[in-house]
Amino acid sequence: MRRGSIVQLLLFALVAGGAAATLALVPGWLPTPASREAGRIDFVFWFVTVICVAIFAIVAAVIVYSLLKFRVRPDDDSDGEPIHGHTGLEIAWTAVPTVLVIAIAVVSAIVLAKNGHAGANPYRVNVRAQQFAWSFSYPSKGGVTSGTLRLPVDRSVKLYMRSKETDVIHSFWVPEFGQKQDLLPGETTTLVITPDRVGTYPVVCTELCGLGHSVMRTKAIVMTQPAFNAWIRAQGKAANAGGSQGGKAAFVANGCGSCHTFAAAGTTGKIGPDLDKLPQYAQQAGKPLDAFVHESIVDSKAYVQSGYQPVMPSFASLPKNQVDALVQFLTGGKKGGA
Ligand code: CUA
Repeated sequence: MRRGSIVQLLLFALVAGGAAATLALVPGWLPTPASREAGRIDFVFWFVTVICVAIFAIVAAVIVYSLLKFRVRPDDDSDGEPIHGHTGLEIAWTAVPTVLVIAIAVVSAIVLAKNGHAGANPYRVNVRAQQFAWSFSYPSKGGVTSGTLRLPVDRSVKLYMRSKETDVIHSFWVPEFGQKQDLLPGETTTLVITPDRVGTYPVVCTELCGLGHSVMRTKAIVMTQPAFNAWIRAQGKAANAGGSQGGKAAFVANGCGSCHTFAAAGTTGKIGPDLDKLPQYAQQAGKPLDAFVHESIVDSKAYVQSGYQPVMPSFASLPKNQVDALVQFLTGGKKGGA
C-alpha cells in the first residue's frame, strides 16, 4: 500500500472519529452520577462508547477511501477483478470483535455484580408505591415515614420496594442514581444505592401506571450524615406531636405539598386543588368543612373538584391520629357548616 493511501485513510478515520466523539461528548447524554452504582454504570457506558467510536472511525474511513479510490469510470463496462479472499484479514476481523465483545460482557458482569451487592450492613428503607404516590419509611427509626426519599451520603442503602396489594406495577427511577427497579403488588424487589454526592434529585415513576402516572414524582434528597440524623430525629418527634404541629408534619411526610398549594405549609403545588380554598370546595360539595376534609383524605375519589383529575391516592391506611391532625391542620381547627 502506498504511503499516500495510508495518510488518506488515517485522515478519514480522524474526521469520522472526531465527529462521532463530538456527538458522544457534547450533548451530555447522561446526568452527572450521584451514586457509586451510577458511576460504575457510567464507566461501562464510556467503555462501550470508546470501542464503538474507534470501530466507526475505521469502518467509515475504509468506506470513504474505497468510494473515492475504486469508483467506476464513466466508460468502464468491464467486470471487476476476481477476488480470492484474504485469510489474515478474515482472522483479524473475527478475532478482534470477539475479544471486544467478551471484554464488554466481562466489564458489564462485574459492574452488575458489584451494583447488586450492598455490603455487610446496608441502611434499610422501605418503599411503597400506589397510584399515584411514593412513600418511604425508615424501619430502624420506629417507622418514620416521608413522602420524599432522604438518604445519608456515602452510606450503602438497600431499598425494599413493593406496590400496595391491590395496586399496579410502578417503577422507581432516579436518573442520577442510574438504576431502575419495578415495584410489584405483593412481591418485594430490592435496589442498592450508595449516594456519593449531596443534592436533590428527581424520583420518577417509569412504568405507565394509570391516569396520574406523569404526576407520580417526588424528590430524593442526599444529605450529610449529621443533617440526616437531625432530620430523622425531628421527624420522629413531629410525628408524635398532636394538633396542628403533628398535622404539618403529616402534611410534609406524606408529600401533600408536591401536588397542593397550602399557605400554612408554604407549598405551591399545582397538580391538585388549592387547599387554601377548602372552605369554598366544602360548600360546593355541600358538606361540613371538617367532615369534607376527612373524607377527601381517606376516600379521595368520593368528591373530585371539577377541573382536576382523580389521581390522588386514598390515605385510608394512615393512622387515625395522623388523619385527625391533618384535618385539624388543613381546616385551621374550624368545623364549618354546610
Ligand atoms: Cu406509577 Cu407510573
